[in-house]
Amino acid sequence: MNWHPIGDISDIPLRGSRCVKTPHMNIAVFRTGEDEVYAIENRCPHKGGPLSEGIVHGNAVTCPLHNWVISLETGKALGADDGAVRTIPLKNEGGSLYIALESLMMAAE
Ligand code: FES
Repeated sequence: MNWHPIGDISDIPLRGSRCVKTPHMNIAVFRTGEDEVYAIENRCPHKGGPLSEGIVHGNAVTCPLHNWVISLETGKALGADDGAVRTIPLKNEGGSLYIALESLMMAAE
């Protein structure tokens, strides 16, 4: 894997996120209340809402537009809603965060 540095976990507030723009897609990087970090496509599977602006609870985020709940682990919509966003491999090395670029290139194909 070709790991690409995206900053430090301390750049992301607890239960918050930051947006990482790449040539292939915009990625939302979330930090949960348990200090776990996940990267998923910043595009709700419902109508493309900006998931990075949603509310993080547990290991999920609620879309700010129509309240779909998306799992940060699997990218899948939870509950009765059907759909999924791409998850991006993320590595946390002592607080330094990296994402795998190959997966982004494959996503663009
Ligand atoms: S766009 Fe996210 S719930 Fe509708």
